[in-house]
Amino acid sequence: MNHFLSVHDVTNINDLVAAGLKAKSDPFAGQHLGKNKTIGLLFFNQSFRTRISTQKAAENLGLKVISLNVGSDSWGLEMEDGVFMDGSKAEHVKEAAAVIGRFCNIVGVRSFAGLEDRDSDYAEQVFHQFKRYAGVPIVNLESATRHPLQSLADCITIAEYKPVERPKVVLTWLPHIKPLPQAVANSFAEWMNRSDVEFVITHPEGYELAPQFAGDARVVCDQREALEGAHFVYGKNWSSYNRYGQMLTDGRGWEITEEKMALTDNGYFMHCLPVRRNLKVTDGVLDSPQSLVIEQAANREWSAQAVLREILLGL
Ligand code: CP
Repeated sequence: MNHFLSVHDVTNINDLVAAGLKAKSDPFAGQHLGKNKTIGLLFFNQSFRTRISTQKAAENLGLKVISLNVGSDSWGLEMEDGVFMDGSKAEHVKEAAAVIGRFCNIVGVRSFAGLEDRDSDYAEQVFHQFKRYAGVPIVNLESATRHPLQSLADCITIAEYKPVERPKVVLTWLPHIKPLPQAVANSFAEWMNRSDVEFVITHPEGYELAPQFAGDARVVCDQREALEGAHFVYGKNWSSYNRYGQMLTDGRGWEITEEKMALTDNGYFMHCLPVRRNLKVTDGVLDSPQSLVIEQAANREWSAQAVLREILLGL
């Protein structure tokens, strides 16, 4: 593996899941791989889990870690080529990416969607610019349209807990107070569509995912019908793709409750976190033995480690 921007950079999901589980059982087996090498982690947006899990995974592999909040720890970065730079951004990505590429053997980047211009968000300009100018492998720590390290951790969690060989996995839209990007839902759909699961998506009308991410997944707009017999319920809010970045409803009635979980086949609840308790999912569900949210977050270390290990093997 060179870059890790999406599932398209993965040869075999099952092998990568197995590598994550192997790292979990023997975290320091690859300590020599990162010796005298450095990873740079650049955050254009806030993070809790991604920052600490990627740092931990990198250190397990012997890498040194440099972590920066772009714009507050460093200069604001201009992404457009050919711009007359008289605005607030003091540095161009051409120089910044090239410089960090001289100091680091791998660069991780987190940059969310702006939710104003769909074409611009879906073009993933920040990642393409870093890929173009850094000259080293780039890892997606969540981009405008995808969160593949989260999706890999989700696949690892499903592999650990699945009660049947081909489980039913339901991605359900949840209420939220403000528009959120589609990245986690897009990415989860993209990975599930390539996994051996029965995958169903449920959301209110108007919240259809982009066709390239929804793929051939079955979409059921009646949430209760979708939840029937589910082994995993994956909750997430996202804003509209078609009416880009908009909230079309307050979403009341779409939260996950104990009563809705009773429709499942003793199903597990999953969420990438952070989660707003009782707005999206009740305390009763989150605090029940069926909640996997902490296991998912813990598995972020092993998903990052599986990916970094594979990149290091190719350096
Ligand atoms: N799930 C996730 O990516 O968490 P953070 O936004 O806290 O990194």
